[in-house]
Amino acid sequence: MAKKLLRALAGETQAVPPIWMMRQAGRYLPEYRATRAQAGDFLSLCYNPELAAEVTLQPIRRYGFDAAILFADILLLPDALGADLWFVTGEGPRLSTVTAQADFDRLKGKDDIHDHLAPVYETVRLLARELPEEVALIGFAGAPWTVATYMIAGRGTPDQGPAHALKAENRPLFDALMERLTEATIEYLSQQVEAGAEVVKLFDSWAGSLSGADFETYAVEPARRITAALKARHPGLPIIAFPREAGEKYVGFARATGVDCVALDNSVSPEWAAEHVQVDGCVQGNLASSHMVTGGAALVEETRRIVSAFSRGPHIFNLGHGITPDADPDNVSLMIDTVRGARG
Ligand code: CP3
Repeated sequence: MAKKLLRALAGETQAVPPIWMMRQAGRYLPEYRATRAQAGDFLSLCYNPELAAEVTLQPIRRYGFDAAILFADILLLPDALGADLWFVTGEGPRLSTVTAQADFDRLKGKDDIHDHLAPVYETVRLLARELPEEVALIGFAGAPWTVATYMIAGRGTPDQGPAHALKAENRPLFDALMERLTEATIEYLSQQVEAGAEVVKLFDSWAGSLSGADFETYAVEPARRITAALKARHPGLPIIAFPREAGEKYVGFARATGVDCVALDNSVSPEWAAEHVQVDGCVQGNLASSHMVTGGAALVEETRRIVSAFSRGPHIFNLGHGITPDADPDNVSLMIDTVRGARG
């Protein structure tokens, strides 16, 4: 098992950790903006296997990351379930809302998503062929709670208010939606693995807004079920979970769900996370993405601090959230060189 990323996920401590970056294919790169223009818009890019594979490969060519993440979006699954998805430039995603039983009844079943998602599986197949042999291929999906927040509100929301409201006012409908998403996510990720993904990651971007028993029921339990089902079908498949902004609830998350690695946002300190989270296995993170905008000595110092804090256990270097469009591509090189020890 030679790939650095897979070694970290298997629990190996490495002097130089593997490195990749959330949203590494994105608007901060001129070559991404050019390919996106060629595709027409973001969704057309996601559903065009040749161009989606091309933008996935761009940051690998430019920087030599240890992993490539499939270029797609967490909202393609609701799109496949029938929640028409579109993006408003400068604002973000829009979907038809699920707030009443009739909306839910119109959704497709867990096994009826694959025709719609066939271009995504084709992108994975192209990447499995084209990636350099030392680079690991990561597939992904949104976690059910995070995807549900977009489906219920029909858009991104600052506090996930509409999803919390439906959970309080119509628990059976909310639970039915979570169940459909959990089952469909298992089928979706399983097909990505069949197509050649070597690792899968579950993005629970809004896990931090679930408190108390809700965190157990709607963040931990779906991740545990998805992990158990995928590992039963694909023995040995490594799984990364990102319960963003979980704070104290990062502790024990890997044990409770069975995932191989927990991705950390930058609201937790690396020293704290090494002591309380990395004790259970591999962690990923957690440089603030703002350093990719500001650069300089602070970037170098914070990068070294994170590498050092996690140096006694398995670690994958990454940002605490996705890189932003205003980032300077040179700062990414500075971060990578600092992690790999190539600069003073
Ligand atoms: O990490 C990667 O490079 C893989 C591709 C990927 C994208 N989105 C591409 C994308 C992944 C893993 C995602 C995950 C995703 N998508 C999440 C979870 C992670 C997170 O950021 O919290 C969420 C919540 C979404 C939903 C989504 N997609 C939103 C809210 C937006 C609009 C905000 C924005 O950044 O523009 C998107 C669009 C999106 N997804 C872009 C990219 C590269 C930008 C689209 C563009 O080119 O205009």
